[in-house]
This record gives sequence, C-alpha cells and structure tokens, in this order.
Amino acid sequence: MNTVWSDNIQGIMTLYLSRKLRFDEMFWPQYEKLFRIAENSGLRILEIGCGPGALTRTLADRYPKAQVIGLDRDSNFIAFARRQFPDLEFLEGDICALPFENENFDVVISNTVVEHVDPEFFWNEQLRVLKPGGICLCLSSRRGIRQKAECLKMTPEEKVFWDRQPSGEEELARYQVGCYQLTEAQLPKAMENYGFVNVTSGYAVIDLTPDDPRYPPEKARAMIEADRCSDLEAIRSVKDENDAEVIRAVNAKYDRRLALYEAGEKLWDCDVSIIMVARGEKK
Ligand SMILES: C[S@@+](CC[C@H](N)C(=O)[O-])C[C@H]1O[C@@H](n2cnc3c(N)ncnc32)[C@H](O)[C@@H]1O
Repeated sequence: MNTVWSDNIQGIMTLYLSRKLRFDEMFWPQYEKLFRIAENSGLRILEIGCGPGALTRTLADRYPKAQVIGLDRDSNFIAFARRQFPDLEFLEGDICALPFENENFDVVISNTVVEHVDPEFFWNEQLRVLKPGGICLCLSSRRGIRQKAECLKMTPEEKVFWDRQPSGEEELARYQVGCYQLTEAQLPKAMENYGFVNVTSGYAVIDLTPDDPRYPPEKARAMIEADRCSDLEAIRSVKDENDAEVIRAVNAKYDRRLALYEAGEKLWDCDVSIIMVARGEKK
C-alpha cells in the first residue's frame, strides 16, 4: 500500500477538484486539437499517474468508444477514483514497471507526472506498452498567472500557522517531487531522444476567472470552492492543535469571496494555467 503522494504532497480533493476544472468540457476543444486522436471502437487509452481520476473521466467521456484505464501507485487516489467512477477501470501500479504486455495501447497519456519520474523508466515503459504508431501525450504545467483577490490574501491566522510548520522541502526531495523538470525545449527533445517520431508541442490556456461572464455561476463557484478545499486540505494534513482557529479564518475569507460573487461585485481575480502538451508517436 503506497500513499506517499496523497499523505505528503497533494490531497485527494485538491487534485481532483483542480483537475476537474482543468479538464472541463469548456476547455476540451483546445486539448482535442493538440491530442489529435482518431477515435475508433478498439482504441485503448492508458493514463499513467492518473491521481484521483479527473482526466481519466474526461477521456472516457470524450472518447466513448475507447477503453480507458487509469493507473497510479497511490492507493488512496485509486480507491477514490474507483468509488467516484465505478464504470471506469483503475489500477494500482508503478509507471516504472507497467503491468501490461508490450504493444498494448494506442494512446498513453500523463498530466504533471513527467517531472517526478526517472526519465529512463518514464519514456521507455510508455514506448514498450504502445503499439507501433501509438501516441504518447505528455502534459506538463508551465508558469501561469495567478492574481489573488484582496479578500483571499493570507490571513494573520494562516501566517502564524504556516510559520510554525517545517518548510517541507526535505520531504519533496525525499519523494523526488519535481526532480526531473524539463523546459519547454527539453520536453519534446527528450521524446525524440527516446525514439518517438513526429513530435509536436503546443499549449492549452486554462483561464479560471470566476467573474468572467463566460463562466456560468456553478463553474464560477466551483473555481472558488476548489481553492478553499485546497487550503483546508493542506491545513488538515498537518497535525497542529490550533487547526480550528485557522480553519475558521480560511472559511471566513472564502465565504466573503463567494458573497461578493453572489452580490455581483467583480474582483477579477484569476488563476490561469498554461498546459504544455508534447505529443509523439512510436515508430
Ligand atoms: C502531480 S500528481 C498528478 C496526478 C494526476 N495526473 C492529476 O493531474 O491529478 C503526480 C501523480 O503521479 C503519481 N506517481 C508518481 N510516481 C509514480 C510512479 N512511479 N508510478 C505510478 N504513479 C506515480 C503520484 O502518485 C501522483 O498521483
């Protein structure tokens, strides 16, 4: 049983809610153009490092004729994904030793995983399980734009709370988090070096701005609530006797943000992610 990521790095709901927005149908046309997947009824798609399964869900919905499998080594993520999406297939497994025979999939895809796995295993295992002509899609988050609303700035209670905690840097290094970062030039180059052909790269811009009237109220509220959930999950992951006070402060600031949204007072705070999509084919 491996729960390294969900216990120490990112909580289940933090990843699930942020990815649910990132892979929302509103943004699908951008991904579709970059993925260039021709759907047919025997299509087999594997998502490696699927976390709580939000992208796996989107892929299954967008390619309904395909068989889509999500794989992650974190038992908590897989248990959550299975509960959330009982109609989909999720497996516990290691990207460095994929539990599949050679030439098994038409597409292998990952989102924000390449940064954390030894490249020798990451690329070679995908090549091994892809059929000839199969597509590797490697999604990686780039520096985006984050403009916080004044009412969402860190509260004094949060500052005191976080100042008391260790920095967490050692933990990140211990679990190899972000150890294999690649630049926008290095990522497609790595694909070529490992033998992929017809390599392309492109970017999806995921603009989360709750006040933009393009977004219906339920989506705008989901953007605010995803951030609330992430802040609360981070606090709850720390054993600290002053939890209750800081949780109250965090809830109060998000309640205030929501109330302003409901009152139609625009703050134009935003969270814009830039998602790099590197695409290569197996010869
Ligand atoms: C940043 S998270 C991304 C999760 C998911 N793709 C998403 O966007 O929500 C990285 C994921 O990779 C998984 N992971 C890291 N190394 C792995 C390995 N060797 N085998 C399987 N999963 C791995 C972690 O458990 C975690 O779920």
